[in-house]
Amino acid sequence: MNIREIQLHESPPMDLLLMADPSQKLVAAYLEGGDCYVLEEKDQIIGVYVLIPTRTGTVELINIAVAETAQGKGIGKLLVMDALKRARRDGFKIIEIGTGNSSIGQLALYQKCGFRITAIDRDFFIRHYDTPIYENGIWCRDMIRLSQVL
Ligand code: COA
Repeated sequence: MNIREIQLHESPPMDLLLMADPSQKLVAAYLEGGDCYVLEEKDQIIGVYVLIPTRTGTVELINIAVAETAQGKGIGKLLVMDALKRARRDGFKIIEIGTGNSSIGQLALYQKCGFRITAIDRDFFIRHYDTPIYENGIWCRDMIRLSQVL
């Protein structure tokens, strides 16, 4: 398995990116301002994440996704750990990530990778998305913000 930055001439894996964020508009904006990394297995892209600088010394990990057929095998964790390594290497001091209050598995994954909850952006998903989002039987309303020192 190989994790690499996507090249300018390549199309980003929109199907995967939209799994992490259903808003085409927001995904396009993230791609514009960030660097997109993909994980390939046998020439197939099965994982993706984007790193986007937000403030001096701070970078945000967004749009992390693993193809459905490849989930639950440690690839998500591998991508998060790779993002931490790259962000540290690129000189960032803090890495942040945000996820929905209903994203139970994601909250577990990020905390297992060293992130701690720092803030809650209440009603974020109501303000930014036209249709209500439900996951695990929970209405996704609030953005849970997590971070860690690199
Ligand atoms: N309770 C406790 N731990 C849980 C859990 C739960 N409900 N759900 C997941 N985990 C843990 C797993 O046990 C694993 O930890 P371990 O290695 O200690 O066992 C870890 O979280 C993640 O497992 P992993 O196999 O590395 O994740 P994955 O390859 O399935 O990828 C996502 C995780 C989130 C990237 C993947 O599910 C995905 O693409 N989801 C759709 C897109 C998305 O929601 N992206 C995030 C937007 S914020």
